[in-house]
Amino acid sequence: MKNTGGSSEAKRRAGEHAADLVEDGEVVGLGTGSTTAHAIRALGRAVDAGLDVQAIPTSFQSRQLALDAEIPLTSLDAVDGVDLAIDGADQVAARDDGGFDLVKGGGAAHAREKVVDAAADRFVVVADPSKLVDPLDYPVPVEVLPDARPTVAEAVRELGGEPSLRTARRKDGPVVTENGNLVLDCDFGPIDDPATLATGLSALPGVLEQGLFVGLADEVHIGHADDVDVLGR
Ligand code: 5RP
Repeated sequence: MKNTGGSSEAKRRAGEHAADLVEDGEVVGLGTGSTTAHAIRALGRAVDAGLDVQAIPTSFQSRQLALDAEIPLTSLDAVDGVDLAIDGADQVAARDDGGFDLVKGGGAAHAREKVVDAAADRFVVVADPSKLVDPLDYPVPVEVLPDARPTVAEAVRELGGEPSLRTARRKDGPVVTENGNLVLDCDFGPIDDPATLATGLSALPGVLEQGLFVGLADEVHIGHADDVDVLGR
């Protein structure tokens, strides 16, 4: 059995491995979260050493990390395309067709993450081994317009889920996303058919975006203590 070396070291290895994929002249999508943060810092070191890239952040957190690392920034509407996106996940499940399904949105950034990740020619997920599961079994974050919270919550129950309003850890109130919305974490238990659930959630009036990324990822880089497994290549 592999020594995973603790999740923090595993995340670092996965993130740095993915950052190594970035080539001169590329446009890179920067996901959100602690694993992607390692990739952003590594990319900053590569830029410092002369690599020419433009990056598109998916959240305030990734933007600030990229600014700190002095990575040149751009936006989706200022480029012809995205060569590579690097992003984390809360869970990853392999699909029968060789692709992957993800649950994302632990950082409430899944709306912008999905736009950038889906636009990329190559979408690489970075994760520690604990994220790899079969099947997905994690509450799906659903970003909702504030006024739509009760109606979406009711519709989620009708789809078989149990919604919980995400609250801020040290504050007495809900998490408000960078888009000014709320997040319902919707527990469906084991998710045997992510595609159908994603379609159902996305169709609900008032849902900005939901955290199932169905078949979008091209590769998954799983960090361990002393190496990285690349799945899907
Ligand atoms: C943010 C996300 C993150 O990528 C996901 O929560 C994984 O985070 P971490 O790398 O810190 O475990 O989806 O919206």
